[in-house]
Amino acid sequence: MLQNEDPQAGPSTPSRKRSRWDADDPPESVEKGFQQTAKRRAKSRQPKETNTTDENPIPLTNNLQVKPIRSKHPSHSIYVPPRTLHPPITPSRSVYCYERLNSIEEGSYGVVFRAKDKQTGDIVALKKLKLDEEKQGFPITALREINALMVCKHENVVGIREVVVGETLTQVFIVMDFIEHDLKTLLTVMPSPFLQSEVKTLMLQLLTAVAFCHERWILHRDLKTSNLLMNNRGTIKVADFGLARRYGDPVGVGGLTQLVVTLWYRAPEILLGATTYSTAVDMWSVGCIFAELLLKEPLFQAKGEIELISMIFKLLGPPTSSSWPDYTTLPLAKTITLPTPHPSQLRQKFPYITSAGIDLLSRLLTYDPEMRITAEEALQHPYFRESPFPKHPDLFGSFPSAAAGEKRKPYESPPAPTRAADYKLLMDFDVP
Ligand SMILES: Nc1ncnc2c1ncn2[C@@H]1O[C@H](COP(=O)(O)OP(=O)(O)OP(=O)(O)O)[C@@H](O)[C@H]1O
Ligand SMILES: [Mg+2]
Repeated sequence: MLQNEDPQAGPSTPSRKRSRWDADDPPESVEKGFQQTAKRRAKSRQPKETNTTDENPIPLTNNLQVKPIRSKHPSHSIYVPPRTLHPPITPSRSVYCYERLNSIEEGSYGVVFRAKDKQTGDIVALKKLKLDEEKQGFPITALREINALMVCKHENVVGIREVVVGETLTQVFIVMDFIEHDLKTLLTVMPSPFLQSEVKTLMLQLLTAVAFCHERWILHRDLKTSNLLMNNRGTIKVADFGLARRYGDPVGVGGLTQLVVTLWYRAPEILLGATTYSTAVDMWSVGCIFAELLLKEPLFQAKGEIELISMIFKLLGPPTSSSWPDYTTLPLAKTITLPTPHPSQLRQKFPYITSAGIDLLSRLLTYDPEMRITAEEALQHPYFRESPFPKHPDLFGSFPSAAAGEKRKPYESPPAPTRAADYKLLMDFDVP
């Protein structure tokens, strides 16, 4: 939602402390102060003159050599290489390297600003991480978000530029390329739905990005239209890796957290309490997004989990022993009374899409995660090779950008799952 830019009006969320950068322009002293601190730190990193000798240097890998210290009781192992031999670790730059332009959105976990790089003039997006209430240090979820963005550098994933810091330890911002739209807002303001040819281009880009992340062992775990950004050249960028994590690593007792994926896009196995899930959870969300692009509104607008389960059963028909053999083994399956079996209603819900389109949608919205289509397979689906063909992104029309400062309609959507609640789980066993 757009924020009031009047600094006198104060912050829109009274509970959150703001850095001076969020609130007004930096006093020159602040900016200078940062540079001086950085210099001071750099200076203090210079290795002290030690009592060393050129005799018998200890060989290390890559032709690096460490000279032994002659002191009787060295304060650290003589095999520890000096700081100068560490890979170049530079301190984060200051947020005051950027000029704040406007706030774009206040999400569950942070606020996103549009800003200008003072050196290059580039327009960027700064996501301020919500750390004010953190009691246990820098949250692992924030580390995962930064790590996932760095691992998944791709044309269809939002580009991370750097991480910058404000005056206090709780002021940390992720700097990203600024992208004009998010698909959720765009779908709300567009007068008519995307054309079939456009839906195909968007889906191909989304599937390419998801396949890329999965190939790099990253689960997104919060795919939804508000986390898909689109620029004015018809290119989609997957954003918000705040719930992402590596998969394939050993998982501790209790399994993976179920507090993932915003309700309307949540896969049935998570709804039914599965503690081992994988890339298929993202593919279910991709199915919900595909349907939303066709309908111009979210597919399952449920108020709670029970309502969502019954909406899914109503649309797809309840699961059977052949469509989902492992259904009965799921922790919450016993608590649910299955409705009378009936066939899928997908064709009735989407009367205008081709049979190939219905086939792809039903393969994405498949109950059994083992049988659900993968991103790699979906990219090869005949739907993308039949007429109307995917439209070239350059031919997409451009829209006024709400994120760049124009008013837009607020939209109704459930929030992303809370991260604070699963913090304990994460700390205990859910290693990155
Ligand atoms: N790089 C960007 N360029 C332009 N707008 C962006 C960018 N990143 C995020 N936004 C906008 O900010 C919104 C919130 O960002 P993001 O989803 O990363 O934060 P969040 O706090 O995790 O939000 P939520 O909990 O609502 O999912 C996005 O829906 C989008 O409108
Ligand atoms: Mg988001």
